[in-house]
Amino acid sequence: MAYSRIVGTGSYLPAQALSNQELEARIETSDEWIFSRTGIRSRHVAAPDEKTSDLALHASRRAMEMAGIEASDIDLIVVATTTPDMMFPSTAALLQHKLGIKGCAAMDVQAVCTGFVYALAVADKFVASGQSKCALVVGAEVFSRLLDWSDRRTCVLFGDGAGAVVLKHSETPGILSTHLHADGSQSGILNVDGAVHNGEITGRAFVHMDGGAVFKFAVRVLDEVCRETLAAHNMSGADIDWLVPHQANIRIIMATADKLGLPRERIVTTVERQGNTSAASVPLALDTAVRDGRIGAGHKVLLEAVGGGMTWGSALLVF
Ligand code: UT7
Repeated sequence: MAYSRIVGTGSYLPAQALSNQELEARIETSDEWIFSRTGIRSRHVAAPDEKTSDLALHASRRAMEMAGIEASDIDLIVVATTTPDMMFPSTAALLQHKLGIKGCAAMDVQAVCTGFVYALAVADKFVASGQSKCALVVGAEVFSRLLDWSDRRTCVLFGDGAGAVVLKHSETPGILSTHLHADGSQSGILNVDGAVHNGEITGRAFVHMDGGAVFKFAVRVLDEVCRETLAAHNMSGADIDWLVPHQANIRIIMATADKLGLPRERIVTTVERQGNTSAASVPLALDTAVRDGRIGAGHKVLLEAVGGGMTWGSALLVF
């Protein structure tokens, strides 16, 4: 049987960190409220001239270096982002140009915070089938630009960043399965309802979220999709070496882990220093645990995410 396998990971955070204390000076909030409700202490914010494709480029170069490949080896680029540089062309096409290559397929995937899991699922199909030999899969966001910085219910939660993986065709197991879902009837609980019409933005170009409804939805569907994934392989939580969850809220992460019976030492968390980086959060967390030596060859890793749409999904892989 043929698979796609992750052969390199990389990530990038913008230089500027923004702490809860700095937010206290701007809006009616407190470090105590933010940390106790979310587990977040600080997040990174892109410089005014930094675009999603710039963050993606840094993360991609690091993943390519670990994989030991040149840009010319890449024959597919899939970028997950909610904050593309432009309406079009895709951020993947812009990233391709920044990598100094041309000709290979390049596309964006839009599934908000589940974007990277969706992008990985798409690329996996191409690579495992042999249609692509070497794919670059990226989650990158400048989510700070979608925030109303006077709205304390949302602005304290998110951050900017990028993560990337290189996928190669492999005869030995890599990605075992991916499981994707969406429910558009829930679009009202988390959205940016702005649109471009005759050159003007109509609606609001800021994040709107019913936090409580998203929280309950997330805890339910993440448990369901993790169980669906494990059941597909006759596995239980005990068979998983690492859970790499979407980093939105430490309480959501721990609720999912507890339901699966996973001890806390086997969960990768980055939310404290990064906040919710949307499509970048899963590959950022994955790269963190690969580089610090926790995730190693042969480990079974479960990725999961939930986001606007609502969308949710998971991927089970052997690293
Ligand atoms: O990537 C997927 C998308 N996002 C998520 O997964 C996030 C899901 N939701 C959550 O993480 C949580 O619902 C939040 C962290 C957003 C909120 O936590 P909560 O425990 O559900 O708080 P709440 O919304 O019930 O708010 C409680 C109180 C409210 O005051 P009142 O109405 O009770 O007087 C808020 O106005 O906390 C107030 N509040 C704040 N206070 C200080 C809301 N935001 C803040 C803040 N600082 N930043």
